[in-house]
Amino acid sequence: MSSVPVEFDPANVAAKASAESHMYEQELASKDPMRSVLDANPEIYFVPPKRSSEWGQWEFKAGSYYDTTIGSKHPYWKDKDLPIATKDIQRLRSDMLNWGYCKIEEAISAEQVAVIRQRVLEQAEGERLAGIAQKTPSGQNINCCVNKGRCFEGLIEQDPATVQGGPLVEQIITEALGENWISTSLIASISLQGGVPQALHQDQDIALDSKSPLTINILTPITDVDESNGGTLVIPGSHRVLSEAMREQKPVGKLPPAINIDAKAGTMIITDGRLLHSTGINHTDSPRIVMLNGMQHPLIRQQENWMLSVKPEVLKRASPKLLQRMGYQATNAAQTNEGHGFGARGMVSEAAGSTVDFRLAADNGEYLRVGELSPDSTEAELNAAYTLREVVGKARAGGQSAPVGIGGNKLNP
Ligand SMILES: [Fe+2]
Repeated sequence: MSSVPVEFDPANVAAKASAESHMYEQELASKDPMRSVLDANPEIYFVPPKRSSEWGQWEFKAGSYYDTTIGSKHPYWKDKDLPIATKDIQRLRSDMLNWGYCKIEEAISAEQVAVIRQRVLEQAEGERLAGIAQKTPSGQNINCCVNKGRCFEGLIEQDPATVQGGPLVEQIITEALGENWISTSLIASISLQGGVPQALHQDQDIALDSKSPLTINILTPITDVDESNGGTLVIPGSHRVLSEAMREQKPVGKLPPAINIDAKAGTMIITDGRLLHSTGINHTDSPRIVMLNGMQHPLIRQQENWMLSVKPEVLKRASPKLLQRMGYQATNAAQTNEGHGFGARGMVSEAAGSTVDFRLAADNGEYLRVGELSPDSTEAELNAAYTLREVVGKARAGGQSAPVGIGGNKLNP
């Protein structure tokens, strides 16, 4: 029997793998652009992760990025030509290029908004009654909306029956991402009074020196939004400043202040994935609803569709490492299953964000997905054995409840 060459011995590899000898050591260790953003902008800090035990303990810090207002009321911004709600494609293009977002006026008509609002509010209440609501630092999320109402199917495909401005919306996104873009998720984000603001971040956290976006988020307010109820916080133009700094390998420097986006319900706000943004604070006692519909370059996914194609016997014998490598592990917010896996960033245990049990349940014909729920749902519907309950319960039994933090949410029992 031939012996394995010594160069392949794990101890030998480790002995030659000190950090300073790594390829791309500097690039991968760099925390830029956010490190230099934080250095030069001390009021822009990440909100420390909150556990449910600290719920409601958060205190507003005057002068922070979230202590702001809408552009037209902001001393720094009020005279600048920030994005306006419009149907003019040229203006939408220039707002996207200059400011990193644009607002498509009345992309969803008042009648279309009313349908979505009713469905969101009913579903949110139904999921609370069923004990499967996902509590977030800001309020509540409804995940995997496509299973929870026809209007959500229409939103994802920008069907004019749901999105009257669909053709214009699609044109802007195609110009930004190229053809054949795909949707990464559709989530209803509900901000409630007492919720904490989200940390400023870029959704596109790869290829930060890119000259055009690889991800886009369509934010659709279903209630009017402004500074009073948690209009999304953005730093206009930050998409360009940050990507230029990365390309030129220079510090970001002082950034202009954040504002709350203001928009009427039904406006579609298209944001460049490189734009600094976060959920604002709802100071009112009415729920603030924004539909988050992320779109991305089609290359940002796996070539082989392991979720469907792997044989059950291979899945059953697969090591945690093989499962993770095929994508059955939610290690950050990049993929979830009906919301399970949100906030799994930094998890040490493979049980925490494992998604394989959903697939195995499906193989057995036993995958019960959460569907439409409302206060009118029957007891049987509310108490059904949703696979989501089982998987979350199993993760928790492993002592791995999902932390609440940056991009993190918590699924309530
Ligand atoms: Fe985001």
